[in-house]
Amino acid sequence: MSTGSVIRSQQQHKVFIASSDESKICVVMVGLPARGKSLIAGKAMRYLAWVGIPARVFNVGSYRRHNTPQPAATFFDPHNEEGERMRRAAAEMAMSDMLSWFQTGKGVVAILDATNSTEQRRKWIYEKCRDADIETLFVESICDDEDLIMTNILEVKTTSPDYKGQDPELAAMDFRNRIRNYEKAYETIGDNEKQYTYVKLINVGSTVIINQIKDYLSSRLVYYIQNLHIKPRSIWLSRHGESEFNLTGKIGGDSNISERGEAYARALPRLLRESGVPPNTKIVIWTSTLRRTIQTARHLKAETGYEKLEWKALDELDSGVCDGLTYEEIAEKYPEDFAARDEDKYNYRYRGGESYRDVVIRLEPIIMELERSENVIIVTHQAVLRCIYAYFMNVPQENSPWMEVPLHTLIKLTPRAYGTEEQRFKADIPAVSTWRGKGSSAKHQEFKEAQH
Ligand code: F6P
Repeated sequence: MSTGSVIRSQQQHKVFIASSDESKICVVMVGLPARGKSLIAGKAMRYLAWVGIPARVFNVGSYRRHNTPQPAATFFDPHNEEGERMRRAAAEMAMSDMLSWFQTGKGVVAILDATNSTEQRRKWIYEKCRDADIETLFVESICDDEDLIMTNILEVKTTSPDYKGQDPELAAMDFRNRIRNYEKAYETIGDNEKQYTYVKLINVGSTVIINQIKDYLSSRLVYYIQNLHIKPRSIWLSRHGESEFNLTGKIGGDSNISERGEAYARALPRLLRESGVPPNTKIVIWTSTLRRTIQTARHLKAETGYEKLEWKALDELDSGVCDGLTYEEIAEKYPEDFAARDEDKYNYRYRGGESYRDVVIRLEPIIMELERSENVIIVTHQAVLRCIYAYFMNVPQENSPWMEVPLHTLIKLTPRAYGTEEQRFKADIPAVSTWRGKGSSAKHQEFKEAQH
């Protein structure tokens, strides 16, 4: 029995990795400073890690900082020979580390984060990669929207190690001069470069030009990148209110919410308001197709009039033959499966059901849609919420199935330039805890024991 389940998860793993084409890709960022390149690089890296594709960012700036920690704008003047030499050396170091990383056989996508702003530099990268059998995907971010550039400059001067400890006004001025120096030499990807695979994002995706995408992984990446936006917004996550199955410790099913679950549903509009919703903000409510999430969102929809969508992809992890059983019953009936799940909870697939890895795959379109959307509140289930949370908060795959996401708690996630800010709002309405630690088959504990 147990070997069956372990084999199930291994096969599944292979299928998933094979879907990445087994090609190696170097994503080459292109663009002037303050065009959101590092933001795109960071998000792409988080997305790839979430879908299980080994990826790494090679940031040329951090190599350059080894020798020149806080250079003035003049360092970036194309006529400054010493500056040119040192920047070239940093690019070579990043390239050499990247190639070694690919040679270990563990790398699939490398993201070369730098301005790569001349045709000559891009040719050099292209040829180096081609000789090592690595595909290149150039991602150029072009932006002439002054407000967006300003926001980025403010972000950079407050977060970049290049300006750490410096006067913010002087840092902003120096940074603008740095951009001017780059402008002197900058060449957008042009007609001579038609043989490259590239995507040009103009003003954060309001216009997108795509050239020569050849493989599945690149097209997935391009689709992801073109959906990104940087408008301020939040995403709220909530599990459904306590359900009748939760009260008896049963998993899965399609039960109604309990009386306490109904109290949470009534409290949800207030909880959301108290979490801080800017005036005139439109929020879209997403639920699964199961009763307990629809019932939980009912009052929220009625009181706010927000648009509501039901997604099958947000339904709880399918526990197959174990649906409707308690953890104790599973441990008794399928002891080896129960142990195998504890051993590798992310990959373990229930007989006739799903694994966390399966859930992540079915959630991919949800993540794409979330990236395109603005304010959304998602009312869903324990396992699904863990997967969505893991994407935003960059939680490693092996940890995500064990995270605690209590009932009757609203989680507010606000994406910032470098990472996501999290706040939790707990309704004062008791509920059982459905969290189970490794090795335990204990029935759900009462709220007072588990959550106080
Ligand atoms: O217990 C509530 C529940 O949503 C079940 O329906 C589901 O099978 C389970 O949580 C998922 O959590 P875990 O992966 O920790 O068993």
